[in-house]
Amino acid sequence: MKTRITELFGIEHPVIQGGMHYVGFAELAAAVSNAGGLGIITGLTQQTPEDLANEIAKCNKLTDKPFGVNLTFLPGFANPDYPGYINAIIEGGVKIIETAGRSPEAYMEVLKGAGIKVIHKCTSVRHALKAEKIGCDAVSVDGFECGGHPGEDDIPNMILLPRAAEELSIPFVASGGIGNAQQLVAALALGADGINMGTRFIATVEAPVHQNVKDNIVAASELDTRLIMRGLRNTERVMKNTAVEKIVAIEKEKGADIAIGDIMALVGGVYPKVMTEGTMDAGAWSCGMVAGLIHDIPTCEDLVTRIVSEAQDIISGRLAQFA
Ligand SMILES: Cc1cc2nc3c(=O)[nH]c(=O)nc-3n(C[C@H](O)[C@H](O)[C@H](O)COP(=O)(O)O)c2cc1C
Repeated sequence: MKTRITELFGIEHPVIQGGMHYVGFAELAAAVSNAGGLGIITGLTQQTPEDLANEIAKCNKLTDKPFGVNLTFLPGFANPDYPGYINAIIEGGVKIIETAGRSPEAYMEVLKGAGIKVIHKCTSVRHALKAEKIGCDAVSVDGFECGGHPGEDDIPNMILLPRAAEELSIPFVASGGIGNAQQLVAALALGADGINMGTRFIATVEAPVHQNVKDNIVAASELDTRLIMRGLRNTERVMKNTAVEKIVAIEKEKGADIAIGDIMALVGGVYPKVMTEGTMDAGAWSCGMVAGLIHDIPTCEDLVTRIVSEAQDIISGRLAQFA
């Protein structure tokens, strides 16, 4: 399937695997890229720029297809060595970067100078327009349904995507809540040039996470995520568990007086415990409502092929009758 996104990134299918903390390792990124999509290594999961350089080298051995690196600009308290990570990306020969969190404006000159294509993930039309203005090549528009950080506007993709299509000139992919062929077709119909998936790619054979995580997603319904940290203006959609119930109770009790310290033990340092050790109640971990549409654990090749070929069947079959 050809779109402006496949042309831009030199990939076969308009299907991107978004950066995911402690999930987006070389094994998953390479599997998605080998399936004809665009796999993405999560930069900050690597503790140092040297570790990222090693992960990129590993991915280069696992695939000869294009892959990207996610660089998330975190709010406030953390201050990673971003120039060091960018250097590792450039030196590793990676030509695509997915930025997220804050605007990548400060790094655009160095990224563009190195011939790197930038896709910025954002949750509003105004941020997408800003990304276009500063020279990003594409945007990933993340709706309210998404796993992770949906922002504070709460606009679902049924509205956000056509609004983005009204305003943007650069290509964009639909992100958030997507996991199957019907949704790829819908995203294309709403004006997007492809899809970005997070949660769906965790429940794959190659995702290097504990089996408990995959089983948890398959067992979950669309009712099983919760929003936390709204009071801190750092809203995150997470899988419901006992730790998240505690967070919600603390947030209710503290109201407007909530501080990050009140919930730090339940949100900090959680990912290795959940993703690597499979301790599902260790704390809050990002997960999207699309869990309700995930019923199996296929290989990335089977998943991407299934989504694209079923989408083509829907377009030439069911939809053609309405034309
Ligand atoms: C477990 C998990 C971890 C994530 N970590 C990051 C991250 O570190 N940086 C980032 O930009 N997005 C992160 N995301 C967001 C995804 O890249 C993607 O935008 C989102 O999952 C799309 O929504 P979906 O899960 O409904 O497909 C994460 C998502 C999940 C589910």
